[in-house]
Parts: sequence; C-alpha cells; structure tokens
Amino acid sequence: MNNTKKKNVNKGNFIAFEGIDGSGKSTQIRMLDARMKEKGIYCYTTMEPTDSPIGSLIHQIMMGRIKTDNKVIAALFVADRLDHLLNDVNGIVNKINEGTTVITDRYYFSSYAYHSVDMPMDWVIKANEQSSHILRPTVTVFIDTSPDTAVERIAKNRFHQELFEKKSRLIKVREKYMEAFDRLKEEECVIKVDGNRSEQEIAEEIWQKIKGFLK
Ligand code: ADP
Ligand code: TYD
Repeated sequence: MNNTKKKNVNKGNFIAFEGIDGSGKSTQIRMLDARMKEKGIYCYTTMEPTDSPIGSLIHQIMMGRIKTDNKVIAALFVADRLDHLLNDVNGIVNKINEGTTVITDRYYFSSYAYHSVDMPMDWVIKANEQSSHILRPTVTVFIDTSPDTAVERIAKNRFHQELFEKKSRLIKVREKYMEAFDRLKEEECVIKVDGNRSEQEIAEEIWQKIKGFLK
C-alpha cells in the first residue's frame, strides 16, 4: 500500500487508562471493551509493562530478582513503551493506522507519576518525548481512587506485608499524577473519574465522558 492510500484510512482511537495500583483500571477496561463490542467496535486491549523481553526484564526487577538503579528502571520503561508502539508484529502504531481502537492499561503518564517520586519530572517527560511525539492518546482516563481504598482492594486479593509502605508511596504517586496532568493540560486530553464508587457507576461516567472524543 502506498503512503497516499495509508493517509486516507481512518485511524483508530487510542485510549489510555491511568491510576494508582488497585484503582480499578483493568476492571474498567474490561467493561469498556464489552460496551464497545456491544456497539460493534472491536478493541485491542494491551498493557504496560508489556510481555516483551524488555517488559519481562522490568517484571523481574519489580519482583526483586534483579537489582538496578531507579534511572535504569525508568529508561527500561521508555524502551518498553517504544517497543509497545513500534513492534512490527503487534505494535500499537500499526493497529491504530489500520483503524483499530486500542485501549492500554498504563502509558506515559504512569512514568511521569511513578518515576518522578524519585527523580525530577522534567527528566521523565524528556525521556518519554519520542513516545509522545509518535502517539498521543485520543483520551487518557484517570481513575481517581483514594490510596486507602486502593490498598484495601489490593489487600483483599493478595498477601501484602508492606501495606503501610505501599499506601504512603501511592499517596505520593497520586500527587505526581495530578502535577503531571496540570503541567500538560494544554497538550493532553485527560478525563478524571471518581474511582471510589461502584464498578457500574464508574463505567457509566467513563462512557458518558469519553464517547464525545471518539472518532
Ligand atoms: P488495577 O488494574 O487498577 O490495579 P483492578 O481493576 O485489578 O485495578 O482492581 C483491583 C481490585 O479491586 C480487583 O480485585 C477488583 O475486582 C476490585 N475492584 C475494581 N473496581 C472496583 C470497584 N469500583 N469497587 C470495588 N472493588 C473494585
Ligand atoms: P502491575 O502489576 O501491572 O500493576 P497494575 O495492575 O496496578 O497496573 O504493575 C505495574 C507497576 O509498574 C505499577 O506499580 C506501576 C509501575 N509502572 C511504572 O513504575 N512506570 C511505568 O512507566 C509504568 C507503565 C508502570
């Protein structure tokens, strides 16, 4: 297919979900995916960190099997994200160009929020510049769940020894999300929904708020 033809194809929407751990992202992605399918819109759902070799390395670091500096972890997320976008086999950019709607559980705002707890946000934004140039989300959905509620939800499902530590980190991450949204409010389309409610109420608000942005 030549370039002129490619430009005429309608591009798919790119929807990024963000929120602290346990905020309800994967639940809401499942519900949005089901709603879109009912309307005849097929979505490709994906997540970061990915299951690529770079993503697997990140998972091993997060499990404590490999030790490295925070800057290295932030840089691995940058590389994982670029592969997520550009991979020949299942990269997001190809899917969007083919007209497929893509929903991702986390994108660059996760880096801005999580890594800037330990290093300057400017550095993190700059390090992710290529991804933001390649593909900005049509809309980013931030599920704003209080760290108390998120930690309670996590505790219900998994055994966690360090819940107190986890909560104080999530409080900082949530603040960093807010700072990043404020800094980038001119160039990014972000909608925020209160995540401390029932799954159905949140799903309904997300749908009402995003449907106007979708092409
Ligand atoms: P995330 O993907 O953001 O980590 P999940 O969707 O996996 O969050 O949700 C974390 C846990 O909380 C899961 O057990 C899920 O069933 C539960 N959960 C998600 N949304 C709600 C909600 N609105 N109310 C109560 N529990 C929820
Ligand atoms: P995961 O188990 O997928 O958690 P969740 O279900 O909450 O998304 O782990 C993802 C973790 O990686 C989460 O704690 C956030 C973190 N993360 C970063 O630190 N930087 C990033 O760029 C991304 C995408 C995730």
